Amino acid sequence: MSRDEDQQYAAGAAADGGVDRLVGPEADSEESAVEAALRPKELGEFIGQPKVREQLDLVLKAARQRNGTADHVLLSGAPGLGKTTLSMIIAAEMAAPIRITSGPAIQHAGDLAAILSSLQEGEVLFLDEIHRMSRPAEEMLYMAMEDFRVDVIVGKGPGATAIPLELPPFTLVGATTRAGLLPPPLRDRFGFTAHMEFYEPHELEQVVHRSARLLDVEIDTDGAAEIAGRSRGTPRIANRLLRRVRDYAQVKADGSIDQDIASRALGVYEVDERGLDRLDRAVLTALLKLFGGGPVGLSTLSVAVGEERETVEEVAEPFLVREGLLARTPRGRIATPAAWDHLDMPRPTQNPPHPPGGSGQQGLFGA
Ligand SMILES: Nc1ncnc2c1ncn2[C@@H]1O[C@H](COP(=O)(O)OP(=O)(O)O)[C@@H](O)[C@H]1O
Ligand SMILES: [Mg+2]
Repeated sequence: MSRDEDQQYAAGAAADGGVDRLVGPEADSEESAVEAALRPKELGEFIGQPKVREQLDLVLKAARQRNGTADHVLLSGAPGLGKTTLSMIIAAEMAAPIRITSGPAIQHAGDLAAILSSLQEGEVLFLDEIHRMSRPAEEMLYMAMEDFRVDVIVGKGPGATAIPLELPPFTLVGATTRAGLLPPPLRDRFGFTAHMEFYEPHELEQVVHRSARLLDVEIDTDGAAEIAGRSRGTPRIANRLLRRVRDYAQVKADGSIDQDIASRALGVYEVDERGLDRLDRAVLTALLKLFGGGPVGLSTLSVAVGEERETVEEVAEPFLVREGLLARTPRGRIATPAAWDHLDMPRPTQNPPHPPGGSGQQGLFGA
């Protein structure tokens, strides 16, 4: 990466949680178009999340048998795990049209009223980032979800009147990365909540194979495993890495992907065997090399890495913590033994040293 790109990368990461990172979980608009082509269209094609699939299958089958509309569904989980995909699958399985909007797009209750009052019977309304909806819109939604009714306010001030409007039955599919931020009355109005988990490597391998087939790229088992292992449990990242490896295979080899090609390609893009990128490694390296594994305060660590505090805390750390490489403690950030191993550095000898013959200080990790 050039200096400029580095800066762009850091700025993008700080502004929106990492759109410009190869291993960032969010998609930009250009990527969304590519993703649309890779989306599974029916529940049977959806890989992984066995619990969610089984439960959702029952909800949808039962609704179909009753010739009714499915209960409202809340999908919660990290970005890139398949929430938008599932919402489209729900509509497809119900043979219903789908309307797509998002919390931030609904500024006023009137915006929501306009959408709700134009829904057809049985339609699926997908409300992405539902935790970011405005308060008044949220309250309108309560009534719409429960009674299929909205009060449209006509006029202003003391002369304003509420005109009740009946809505046709519809299915609301809400998606959120932060289920904890939803007010309980909203959460309670969903008949079914699906918690999406990060994917297992073998599931991501299937995702990679499936996408490779759709992109018409040849890939062997070890090549797919190599990409899956670096994808941070996230199908969106797996698909993105696959596209970068495909570029490499096409330019540097005969176009087909094996483990060696995948590993060399991702080396070029600085995504390591565990899915850490340049930023993650910089944070970890500083923690180990400059601070002996910590504890060190977030601000100090950020200065050492040359990044904003927020970037280190919100962009790099969550994955490092999830991977068990870094821990946040009241005294500061510390590296785990796995961090030393991952960067191929010898674990430090315990400090303070053991008293001779004593049972020894166990250290933070009892290592
Ligand atoms: N279970 C899955 N099987 C196959 N591909 C998936 C799966 N989940 C997600 N994807 C792919 O990952 C990308 C991101 O999924 P998306 O539904 O947009 O995630 P989210 O809305 O949770 O951010 C899509 O291109 C989709 O094809
Ligand atoms: Mg989405």
